[in-house]
Amino acid sequence: MRSIVNILGAAVLLLRSVYALDNGVGRLPVLGYNTWNAYQCNIDEDLLLSTASLLKSLGLQDAGYNQLNIDDCYAEKNRSAGGDIIADAVRFKGGMKSLTDQIHALGFKTGIYSDSGWYTCAGYPGSYQNELRDLKTFSDWGFDYLKYDNCAIPYDEITREGIVGRYQRMADAVVQVQQSTKNNPILLSLCEWGWSQVWLWGKQFGQSWRTTGDIAPEWNSLANIINFNSFLTQATDFYGRNDLDMLQLGNGNLTFDESKSHFTAWALMKSPLLIGTNLSEITNETLSILKNNEILAINQDPTVGASISPFRWGINPDWTSNSSFPAQYWSGPTQDGTVFMLLNTLDKPSTLFFNLTESPWIRAGRQYSVRDLWTHTENGTAVRNFTAYDVPAHGVVALLLKDVGDEPDGIYPQCSVWWQCTDKNGTRVGG
Ligand code: GAL
Repeated sequence: MRSIVNILGAAVLLLRSVYALDNGVGRLPVLGYNTWNAYQCNIDEDLLLSTASLLKSLGLQDAGYNQLNIDDCYAEKNRSAGGDIIADAVRFKGGMKSLTDQIHALGFKTGIYSDSGWYTCAGYPGSYQNELRDLKTFSDWGFDYLKYDNCAIPYDEITREGIVGRYQRMADAVVQVQQSTKNNPILLSLCEWGWSQVWLWGKQFGQSWRTTGDIAPEWNSLANIINFNSFLTQATDFYGRNDLDMLQLGNGNLTFDESKSHFTAWALMKSPLLIGTNLSEITNETLSILKNNEILAINQDPTVGASISPFRWGINPDWTSNSSFPAQYWSGPTQDGTVFMLLNTLDKPSTLFFNLTESPWIRAGRQYSVRDLWTHTENGTAVRNFTAYDVPAHGVVALLLKDVGDEPDGIYPQCSVWWQCTDKNGTRVGG
């Protein structure tokens, strides 16, 4: 009997490890800051500490942004004689341990970066064949998180394994270091831009995986990322999620409405939310977006880990997809009701209309209170359908609908979505 129980237990563990890495860290999306998009290689310890201070003084830490990540270019170009990665002796002259101590003392978790090939994408030492050694270094330095990239891949005759094998090597190192230190495991964030169908396997190893190339601060880039990820939403849940790349709010050519759309889509698709812009130049307008507490609360929903998904795929007549104009109508379950995202992907204002029961999370024959998650107001009761008038070009509407009971009697037509709507006596009703 005991052996059957053991076998069953092992099978459950195996299934769990395939479906999600519920190892105690990364159950919810990470909120924080990453240095790459704003600074590339121009980083040093002062920048990290001033960024931590700004996250605090701007109220972002209080809003939940509690992770501060160093990206590429923090190391010397060569390893030590003993083979270890060394922090840049000029830019990180105080040493990484002292830096992470100071960042932790300010109340943040902190992350570092490496690569599953010979070199990082900017040409610094990568971790291939040094996975355990490097992860020990990062752990000794005090880091809680590792972004793991995919540049400079060794020849096939050396690896004799695929990308999954190369990421497995680092995932194994995470387990080994955790077992020897007894600290929390280092949170592994996979960065390989999606070309290996990472959404099918990444959840065995890490808490997030990039699905697309690097974001650029312009609408076309946002539209591409949203479109691509619209087809992958089922991959996201607790402990594992599509990473849509850093937030570029208020940056480059993005308008205020585009920035709101950017934040809404990333947050409701349960992406990690890592700010990637220069905080010393941030405007109050951008801050107000980043601090939208109602949308952040859904990103951090403790009981529902799922992403929103489209219920119409694009602007073509039959709602099929079109990569320049991603899905406009999305919904998903939350602990407090059904959330809707209406995205105007057109270059001009438009009115967006849908029947509530097009969303699978809505019950027919009921009515719903409507909370607008951008104006922070109650907007009456929706019966059967909803219309958002004059949504600005590339703008967004985010709504939380709560069931408030049966709809009024006698509403016509008998079914709001009339396909197959049939009377009990067999008569087809509606269209
Ligand atoms: C890219 C990655 C960026 C940044 C950069 C560093 O591969 O997508 O987010 O980490 O490498 O060189």
